[in-house]
Amino acid sequence: MSSAEVNRQTFDEVMVPNYSPAAFIPVSGEGSRLVDQDGKEYIDFAAGIAVTSLGHRHPEVTRALHEQVDRLWHLSNTFTNEPALRLARRLTETTFAERVFFANSGAEANEAALKLARRWAHDHYGETKRKIVSCKQSFHGRTLFTVSVGGQPKYTEGFAPLPGDLEHIAFNDLAAAEAAIDDSTCAVIVEPVQGEGGVLPATPEYLKKLRELCSRHNALLIFDEVQIGVGRAGTLFAYMDYGVTPDILTSAKALGNGFPVGAMLTTKDIAASFVVGTHGSTYGGNPLACTVADKVIEIVNTPEVLGGVKKRHERIVEGLARINETHRAFRDVRGKGLLIGAELAADLAGKAKDFVNVAAKHGLVILVAGPNVVRFAPSLIISEEDLAEGLKRFEATVAEVVAAARG
Ligand SMILES: Cc1ncc(COP(=O)(O)O)c(C=O)c1O
Repeated sequence: MSSAEVNRQTFDEVMVPNYSPAAFIPVSGEGSRLVDQDGKEYIDFAAGIAVTSLGHRHPEVTRALHEQVDRLWHLSNTFTNEPALRLARRLTETTFAERVFFANSGAEANEAALKLARRWAHDHYGETKRKIVSCKQSFHGRTLFTVSVGGQPKYTEGFAPLPGDLEHIAFNDLAAAEAAIDDSTCAVIVEPVQGEGGVLPATPEYLKKLRELCSRHNALLIFDEVQIGVGRAGTLFAYMDYGVTPDILTSAKALGNGFPVGAMLTTKDIAASFVVGTHGSTYGGNPLACTVADKVIEIVNTPEVLGGVKKRHERIVEGLARINETHRAFRDVRGKGLLIGAELAADLAGKAKDFVNVAAKHGLVILVAGPNVVRFAPSLIISEEDLAEGLKRFEATVAEVVAAARG
């Protein structure tokens, strides 16, 4: 099949230049393998960005979507629909949540969470309880509210005026949390594992402390599990592994395995502040998206898939340690489950993107998390064979980048 009428150059001719995509264009995928326009094959250690957690075109998910495509695509929220209700029931049965709101992305799920927190605090405590506390280096999406709550100033530059009453504190710093969270705080939002910020897991003590402070000051604790949720931590959601329950949890990315969907999960009492007319979305709860997500949760929430995450984590970490023995390329390998970051050694600082580019040459797709961290987020069910082959290609990548940098 030829797709030669469009190519990478077309991007520069017709697209807004806010992305800088790879030089090649993948055109098909199956499991953890991608094929580009030239027929070259890649091992996929990225899964989008932690999205296609069941691999590309998982047969059961594909079948469920096909069946729904042949039944009903869209209704709008003037009706409810069966797939949305089934998915909401599954999410409430498998998590702390009693109520669910559907959106189309992580940013929208977080936007809903932050708006709900403000509204809930306003309803119960009045106008002055509106401070939102979040962490430096955090990432919560690209709407103006979520990008302002996020802790990376480069993403808000030039977009002022920004929403107010936001405070950013150092991640994993108990004293900073104690100092910032007070009775004027309506919500604290945190990623249990910071993804974009460099693959940094929260310490259990930190999340416990946030829970304690939120309970003490009647503030809502929001866990942004957009990147780490839906099995990637080795439990259905990371909060389950930490043993700390939030008041609101947001999910997206892997929830749809590549089909756009987001969800905000909360309790019945908190949800009560979103009365009719307070918030909404045309596509949120779309039957196609909810059919896919329902099948994804059904498959992920099994001992085979969740147990397999731990095994694969160990396999990758061992592989990286072995590569590092030869090349001394990383100063730290960290993460949780199948979200793993390798922080570059001092003399390779700033070169994470070089690893991505050289990996592509060797037929491997990987990610960065900032300029100094190479990030791995493969499918949760990647085969032993693909894992081994991917690590082999990564070793060749490291050898080449290191040789170029060190001469
Ligand atoms: C933790 C976290 N929250 C929110 C988002 C935003 O999700 P989306 O791009 O679907 O809006 C991301 C995306 O990378 C994320 O990693």
